[in-house]
Amino acid sequence: MFNPLLHTHALHTLVLTVLGNRLSYSQTTTKNQAVQGMNFTRRQVIAAGAGAGALLGTGVFGSAAADTTTLVTKPIPGTNEQLPVIGIGTNRWAAGGSPAEIQGLRDTLQGFRELGGRVIDTAPAYRTSEKVLGQLISELGFDDAFFLATKVDREEKMDGIRRMEDSLTKLNRSTMDLMQVHNLRGAETQLKTMLEWRDAGRIRYVGITTSRNDQHAEMAALMKSMPLDFIQVNYSLADRAAEDVILPLAEARGMAVLVNLPLARGRLFKATADVELPGWAAEFDCRSWGQFFLKYVVSHSGVTCAIPGMTRLAHARDNLGAAYGRLPDAAMRARQEKLLASL
Ligand SMILES: NC(=O)c1ccc[n+]([C@@H]2O[C@H](COP(=O)([O-])OP(=O)(O)OC[C@H]3O[C@@H](n4cnc5c(N)ncnc54)[C@H](OP(=O)(O)O)[C@@H]3O)[C@@H](O)[C@H]2O)c1
Repeated sequence: MFNPLLHTHALHTLVLTVLGNRLSYSQTTTKNQAVQGMNFTRRQVIAAGAGAGALLGTGVFGSAAADTTTLVTKPIPGTNEQLPVIGIGTNRWAAGGSPAEIQGLRDTLQGFRELGGRVIDTAPAYRTSEKVLGQLISELGFDDAFFLATKVDREEKMDGIRRMEDSLTKLNRSTMDLMQVHNLRGAETQLKTMLEWRDAGRIRYVGITTSRNDQHAEMAALMKSMPLDFIQVNYSLADRAAEDVILPLAEARGMAVLVNLPLARGRLFKATADVELPGWAAEFDCRSWGQFFLKYVVSHSGVTCAIPGMTRLAHARDNLGAAYGRLPDAAMRARQEKLLASL
């Protein structure tokens, strides 16, 4: 019988094996940010187990791309650590508690992991999301599988400390991979604590977030004055303001970038609802509008990883497809911009 956990393990093992043996650079964007591909053949994927073979057979990668099994990763600048270019945002993971709702999120998390997904973004402000995530990660036995990012959203030092302790408890972690100041709130106070925690090993990386263009100037000032590892910013084909200052500054200062709202909260799908995906999208291994929007975001040299919000398995499978195969080059990106501008 098909066992989803074995299925996950088989693909994970394969990915690690391939990492050890056949790491190859497929494209170079800047000296700090190489797009690194893990290349493996269809036969290798199938050899990893029936489950992984079934993944290909079900069209997760799309039949025309059955041999396109390259998970694209980018490095956290200044480290040897690689992250897949597609993560997951969980601002709507505050499940009301109905078994069907929880099952939908469990399936989404499992599907995300099966396709190599690693980066999860959450926040205490997302109501019960941290708790739901913590429970599902333990239940599925994925404890060390993910790169977990959460946030702190308080002005006062002690309130911030309590908030961060609470996040660690809910996510069942003694160490958080990434702690971010949410919407820059209390940034200088919270960053002081966060940097102490980083020195003490309770946080691996520190960062700041915004999803509003009117905060970009304040974000840029903090990027110039604070020793940040990450920033998180809004960027999509519908909203390219981050290209002006934030993304070039992050590259110049060697900061990793998570992108929120990469699908413009779903508005991009509405804009293209009656439009056929152009044939030329296949030239960068793109098979859906979701992949079209996400490949655009992660092909920017300043972007490390996009974190589309998703609560459905079908969306997780579609979106993880954007972390496989080729990414658009400069000419293709210009074509994507022109198409969106024409709608
Ligand atoms: N200031 C901050 O720090 C900040 C602010 C905003 C967001 N964020 C982070 O960024 C993440 C992303 O933001 P977001 O979720 O608001 O916006 P988004 O990623 O731009 O869009 C999410 C919407 O797109 C839908 N969707 C996802 N994949 C799809 C697909 N393949 N086909 C069709 N529809 C699809 C989702 O539906 P389903 O839910 O039904 O799958 C959801 O309605 C958040 O979850 C959060 O982690 C951070």
